[in-house]
Amino acid sequence: MRNLFSHPARLPLIAPSILSADFAKMGDECRAIVEMGADLLHLDVMDGHFVPNLTMGPDMCKAVRRALPDVFLDVHLMVENPEKFVRPFAEAGADHLTFHAEVVEPAQARLLIAKIHELGLTAGVAINPPTPVDQAMQYMDAADLFLVMSVNPGFSGQSFIAEVLDKARALSEEVTAVQRVEIDGGVKADNAIAIREAGCDVLVAASAIFAAAPAARRDVMNRIRGK
Ligand code: DX5
Ligand code: ZN
Repeated sequence: MRNLFSHPARLPLIAPSILSADFAKMGDECRAIVEMGADLLHLDVMDGHFVPNLTMGPDMCKAVRRALPDVFLDVHLMVENPEKFVRPFAEAGADHLTFHAEVVEPAQARLLIAKIHELGLTAGVAINPPTPVDQAMQYMDAADLFLVMSVNPGFSGQSFIAEVLDKARALSEEVTAVQRVEIDGGVKADNAIAIREAGCDVLVAASAIFAAAPAARRDVMNRIRGK
């Protein structure tokens, strides 16, 4: 499944963030979580500038792609100068790139979306908790996905900021059947109902899934999905 947007519209998709997987066993962790029903994999790329942490680059994406030729790879660029990384991640096998609205001017963002599309990937725009929803909404005619951050990005395992659900709701009222609203940060089985009700249809979770014992991960994902 290499096209996230060919899924029946509005079906909640579960996107484990491999940031909380065991990096020493990354291929096995990814294969197992996909076998257990993950719909796609979320790769958190941090540059130590836009966010205070360093995580992974195109080589990790390439390795995961090699281990799983068919899985949809959703790359979340928490970086300054996202334009530098579009081609490297496209060549590393990413299917989708999301960049942050906070780091680009609107004209630049539109060029970036066009460049991502030219390379055959889908494009997303992310907004941090303090960022007004208009910063994403203005790209409704151009982007495929809108990512509402529900923690201040940098680390997994932080608490969910419920106030961002108003922004998710506003975006979900505007998206078409081929666009999606993603939420990322602090997603757990017990807050997933409110998240789905706000119209989010791609739910990212790192610690909720990977901190669970491997045998419990399927159940965690099903509970987040609302099954
Ligand atoms: C936030 C990252 C998230 C993060 C989620 O900095 O963009 O994807 O890893 O982690 P949890 O689900 O543990 O909050
Ligand atoms: Zn993320």
